[in-house]
Amino acid sequence: MAILARPNKKMIVLGIETSCDETGVALYNTTAWEEGKPAFQGILGQGLHSQIAMHRDYGGVVPELASRDHIRRVLPLLDESLAQSELKLSDIDAVAFTQGPGLAGALLVGSAFAKSLAQGLNLPSIGVHHLEGHLLSPLLGQTVPQFPFIALLVSGGHTQLMKVSGIGQYQLLGETLDDAAGEAFDKTAKLLGLDYPGGAAISRLAEQGRSGIFDLPKPMLHSGDLDFSFSGLKTAVLNQVKKFAEKNITEAQEIKQFHADLARSFVDSLVAVLVSKSEKALKQTGCKHLVLAGGVGANLQLRSALNEKAKRNGFEVHYPPLELCTDNGVMIAFAGALRLLAENNGSSKSGAFDIKPRWDLASNNLK
Ligand code: KG4
Ligand code: ZN
Repeated sequence: MAILARPNKKMIVLGIETSCDETGVALYNTTAWEEGKPAFQGILGQGLHSQIAMHRDYGGVVPELASRDHIRRVLPLLDESLAQSELKLSDIDAVAFTQGPGLAGALLVGSAFAKSLAQGLNLPSIGVHHLEGHLLSPLLGQTVPQFPFIALLVSGGHTQLMKVSGIGQYQLLGETLDDAAGEAFDKTAKLLGLDYPGGAAISRLAEQGRSGIFDLPKPMLHSGDLDFSFSGLKTAVLNQVKKFAEKNITEAQEIKQFHADLARSFVDSLVAVLVSKSEKALKQTGCKHLVLAGGVGANLQLRSALNEKAKRNGFEVHYPPLELCTDNGVMIAFAGALRLLAENNGSSKSGAFDIKPRWDLASNNLK
C-alpha cells in the first residue's frame, strides 16, 4: 500500500465522470485507504448512466448529443449516489472531476457542474486525468498491485503502456501510433455487422470461432519497442470480408461461422500483441506486477492470456472489478481522493471551467 504524504485526513470525495458517453458519479471515503484496508471499502455510493443505446443508431458517439445527455443525467445521478451513501451535500469534503482527455463539450458539462457545486459549498475541486482514473482502478480490486507496476491501458481512445512508480508518478513506455485497441474492436465489429460499441460482442462471437482459420497480421509484434499499431489489422479484416462477399454465399450458418472465425483470428492477433508488449515492458523495467485497465480490460480472452503468461513467467496480473473497467465515477472519485491526500496536488477553489481535451498524463505528475 502507498505511503501517504499526509496521513489521517479523512475525506469524502465526490467524483464526476463525463469525458465520453458515460455519466458517472460516485462518493469515496478515504478512511479505508488511510487505514490500510482494502480500498474498495471506501466506495460509498455511485450512479452510472451509459449513453450507448442513444448513440447506437449513429454507429458511434455523437459529441453534441453526449454533452446534452450529461446535462440531463448528472444531477439525478448525484442524488442517487447521495441516497445510496446516506449522505447529504454538506458531508462532501472535495469534488473531483474528469478534466481530460475527452470530448470538449462533454468535459465542459462535468467541469461546470463540479466547479459550480464546489464553489457553492466552498470546497476545493480537483481535475483528474481520465487515464489516471483507469490505471488506479485496479487498486480497488481484490488483489492490490505493488508499486512500481506496469499498466496496460486499453480503452476506446487509448492504448498505452505506463510505468507507475506511485500515485502521480507515471512514465509513458509506449502507445498506439494509430487506432486504439478499443477502436480496433469497434471498427472490426462494424465490419462484422455488430452494433456499436462492438468490443464485448466481438469477444463473445470469437468464443464460437476457430483459431488459425485466417492468417491476420500481428502488427509491430517484433518492432523492438513498446508501441502499437492496429489500423492494419482492421484493414486485414476488411480484406477478408470483401473476399467472402465475392463468394456470394447466402447460407446463414456459413456466414455465421465465417464471422465467428474471423472474430477469433482478430482477437487472437490483438491479444498476442498486447500480451507480448506487456511482457516486454515488465522485462525492460524489472517490474513484477502488471495492471490491466480501460474498457478492453473487460475482455476475457485478454485476461486469460495474461493469466496464463503470468503463471508461466512469474509475474502477477491485477484487474479492476469488471464493472469498473469501463468508464465510471468511482475511478474519478478514487483517483481524486488519492491525489488530494498528497502534497501539491493541484486542487483549487477556482471557478474557471478549465478542461483539457488533449492531455498528456505524465505532464500531470505530482512533484
Ligand atoms: O474505457 P472505456 O469505457 O472508454 C474509453 O475511455 O474509451 O472503453 C470503451 C472501449 C470500447 O471500445 C469497447 O468496445 C471496449 O472498451 N470494450 C471491450 C470489451 N468491453 C468494452 N473490448 C473488448 N472486449 C470487451 N469485453
Ligand atoms: Zn475510459
